[in-house]
Amino acid sequence: MNIKKKILCIGAGYVGGPSMAMIAYKCPDYRVTVVDISHERIDAWNSSELPVYEPGLDEIVRKTRGKNLFFARDIENQIKENDIIFVSVNTPTKMFGTGAGMAADLQYWEKTARQILEHSRSSKIVIEKSTLPVKTALAMERILSSAKGKISFEVLSNPEFMAEGTAMNDLENPDRILIGSRETKSGLKARAELSDIYARWIPKDKIITSNIWSSELSKLVANAFLAQRVSSINAVSALCEKADADVTEVARAVGMDSRIGSKFLNASIGFGGSCFKKDILNLVYLCNYYGLPEVASYWESVVKINEYQQERFIANILSSMFNTLAGKKICILGFAFKADTGDTRESPAIHITHRLLAEHAQVIISDPKALKNAAFDLKDENGEITYTEDPYRAASGCHALALLTDWNLYRKLDYKKIYKSMIKPAFLFDGRNILDHKKCFKIGFNVYPIGKPALSHFKVSPDA
Ligand code: NAD
Ligand code: UGA
Repeated sequence: MNIKKKILCIGAGYVGGPSMAMIAYKCPDYRVTVVDISHERIDAWNSSELPVYEPGLDEIVRKTRGKNLFFARDIENQIKENDIIFVSVNTPTKMFGTGAGMAADLQYWEKTARQILEHSRSSKIVIEKSTLPVKTALAMERILSSAKGKISFEVLSNPEFMAEGTAMNDLENPDRILIGSRETKSGLKARAELSDIYARWIPKDKIITSNIWSSELSKLVANAFLAQRVSSINAVSALCEKADADVTEVARAVGMDSRIGSKFLNASIGFGGSCFKKDILNLVYLCNYYGLPEVASYWESVVKINEYQQERFIANILSSMFNTLAGKKICILGFAFKADTGDTRESPAIHITHRLLAEHAQVIISDPKALKNAAFDLKDENGEITYTEDPYRAASGCHALALLTDWNLYRKLDYKKIYKSMIKPAFLFDGRNILDHKKCFKIGFNVYPIGKPALSHFKVSPDA
């Protein structure tokens, strides 16, 4: 087949791999190559066990890999070869120097810009797919504009809005594709070229364009709004517990207002994932940088409520279980930060496990996809931890279950069988409100949901 476009993606992570697989799948006449500094990651992408678990991803990779999708190690050569370069390297929170704990660490990203400059022999479109602070494109342009000779670079912003666990569907049917560019002749031309790629499978009215700074900022703001909804409902869940209201009922009533909408109103142990916290902290940093401390503290409160929600959950376990967890066995159902992913980055389960171990509890962790990452996250822990994929084996002999990830399989477990295998009184802390609490209570569990009255068999509350 005649190759119409040659596309490169630098960064073969949760975004780079799936998003490029989708482009290759939808555009068989484009050649798409993905590179990474981690050879281990590239090798995994070329193996039968992909480095990222995402429903539907295997199938698309199987259909495209070796045909028009390639995972390669030779970054420098690939920069020379390709005309359109997506950059989807990681942009974690900076942990040192100015802005430590808040600003985005742009070292990986800047290295990539310099590498593109050094190895390019022809003009290219460079696309920011990573989430970046507003005005990053300016820095990228400054680095790239030091190119010698006739080579020129056009920088575009094309933030990714996919969520893990639903990435393939999000990539195939996105709510929108956002492309930001300079509003110059060459900027608009590059913008049109990128639009053409997406127009292969996405309706034109969903491909929106803007100036480059609006595009960069929209990504941070979209994540901040989503996280803010989770913190809002979690804040309300604390009030529900005091006022004998039920947060699910409140969320339903509030969410049916079409101006508010029903999504992202599930009370939980708090949001996790590699992006919400880092992107809000980045927004907070930017607001302070631009002299807007009131705006900064408004957004910072979203992160504070998230931390508060995890602390409340731990405090509730401790007080419900007679204020001591020492020597007690607690089974954690779910370690991933959400269902349908093996990703555990910033998962509330990490902090909750550390806190349970600090109380000298024995922790048994179960998860269908995240045990390898869980073991890595907890490698420096000295406490007693066991990893068991089978939830029945994990729960057997435990004093309590703490459900931390909303995996569908946990809805379907035989809780009668589990109850029988546990030490009594048996406790169930549903950190996701996904179980049938009345049914579990009837089975014999003392049930502690989020934002709803507890269902306890104790005549007097154990902490009274
Ligand atoms: P990731 O850590 O999974 O992947 C990033 C990859 O980039 C890593 O494999 C790393 O080895 C590689 N890398 C770093 N520096 C490199 C370099 N100089 N050359 C080549 N490769 C390099 O991260 P991710 O989750 O894919 O996120 C990437 C970006 O996309 C972040 O900015 C993130 O905020 C954003 N984002 C993530 C998601 C998500 O669901 N994970 C969704 C939307 C946007
Ligand atoms: C989020 C956004 O949804 C994506 O649009 C964005 O592209 C991505 O971040 C990113 O920039 O990385 P993701 O973090 O993968 O995607 O997953 P979400 O579905 O947003 O869930 C985030 C966290 O919030 C999870 O821990 C989830 O369990 C929690 N959550 C979500 C709740 O506690 N309650 C809800 O109602 C919704």
